[in-house]
Amino acid sequence: MACPVQPGTDFTDPDTLVSGVPLPEFAYLRENAPMFWNPQTRANSSYDDGGFWLATRHADVKAISCAREGWSSAENTAIVKFDGATVGPDERVVQRQMLLNMDDPQHSKVRGIVSRGVFTPRGVGKIEDALRERAVRIVIEAKAKGTGNFVDDVACELPLQALADLMGFPQEDRKQIFNWSNQMMAYDDPDYDVDPSIAAAEILGYAMTLGEERKACPADDIITRLVAASTTDDILTSEEFGFFVLILAVAGNETTRNAISHGMHAFLQNPEQWELYKAERPSTTADEIVRWATPVVMFQRTAMDDVEVSGTEVKKGQRVGLVYSSANFDDTVFEDPHRFDITRDPNPHVGFGGGGAHFCVGANLAKVEIDLMFNAIADHLPDITQLGEPTRLRSGWLHALKEFPVSYG
Ligand code: HEM
Repeated sequence: MACPVQPGTDFTDPDTLVSGVPLPEFAYLRENAPMFWNPQTRANSSYDDGGFWLATRHADVKAISCAREGWSSAENTAIVKFDGATVGPDERVVQRQMLLNMDDPQHSKVRGIVSRGVFTPRGVGKIEDALRERAVRIVIEAKAKGTGNFVDDVACELPLQALADLMGFPQEDRKQIFNWSNQMMAYDDPDYDVDPSIAAAEILGYAMTLGEERKACPADDIITRLVAASTTDDILTSEEFGFFVLILAVAGNETTRNAISHGMHAFLQNPEQWELYKAERPSTTADEIVRWATPVVMFQRTAMDDVEVSGTEVKKGQRVGLVYSSANFDDTVFEDPHRFDITRDPNPHVGFGGGGAHFCVGANLAKVEIDLMFNAIADHLPDITQLGEPTRLRSGWLHALKEFPVSYG
């Protein structure tokens, strides 16, 4: 294969993803340079480490994710491309209040508060009937419009409504959560004139206010659970409380929306799979959609010791990007990986992370939401068609769609 990767290519350059995930380049790297040095210039010169390693093979992404020691999510955080300002030491202290960017023992302590009960298959099962009704209402309202932007009309709605139910946000606040979440994630896209730190401060303020309300008047929701952990048991600091609300609001929202949008696009590009889905509704569908979409292109870890990965010496303190978008198309693991196949089984994709301590808390919830939405679409919008190509978000690490024009049929 001719080398499609120029030395010096920065795969976190937002202009790269805006035209699609560079799958041929990742395939080349898996074969020829599975640990590729990705130069990256960062605005804060005292924290400019020159770049990081890209781990592109499925086996390496899994091994690093599952390692019990030797790798840190807190050291440089998990986000591989922040907005220019958010790489200095002060910002890091703030970012480390978020579950995603914690190491043990803090990580296990905080994660334990919500991972038991709420997000297990049983916990999600309790709200499934209510979510099914919501999914049907969403598609019926979209159908009444005739045509529209699938992302705003359909894909964004169930993740927002589910989060509002689970967290205890009033449903009427969900557009506000949608806007905050977009503002926090879209810092590299000129279509959004945003300052993520303002959105973060606003979500934190919102969380604190709801927390005070739940102290006075507890309910059966996550905010009440978190408030109890931060007051009665004194397990969670008030910063950890606020940032927990923030990460759940943002992480559970953007990612699932993108899986649904990319999933619809994949179905419309592969009509035989849409016909198969409408006829048989395979239970393997949601996993294939998450593999195909891989909404998070990569997160990173920092090596805490010198270590060898796929024959490359990674030095203590260096960052390694776990490229989920590459691992999910690794042909040593997935037969015919470029085929969208909703019956794929087994499907050991790493769309929710490569396993281990940070594996996505909301994976069960996300898969139920994806299933419910596509069932509702198949029942009520079976003749949905694409009116134009989707527009992608300009981002260094999110595989996101902003607009997808469709006719609801
Ligand atoms: C298709 C939808 C989703 C995708 C693709 C996705 C992807 C991911 C990935 C790749 C990770 C990091 C794993 C790691 O570092 O090893 C993660 C972590 C996380 N996700 Fe998700 N996610 C989705 C939905 C959700 C939902 C619905 C929620 C919550 C309501 C959620 C909450 C979280 C949280 C809190 C973490 C941090 C876990 C930790 O650090 O311990 N995610 N997710």
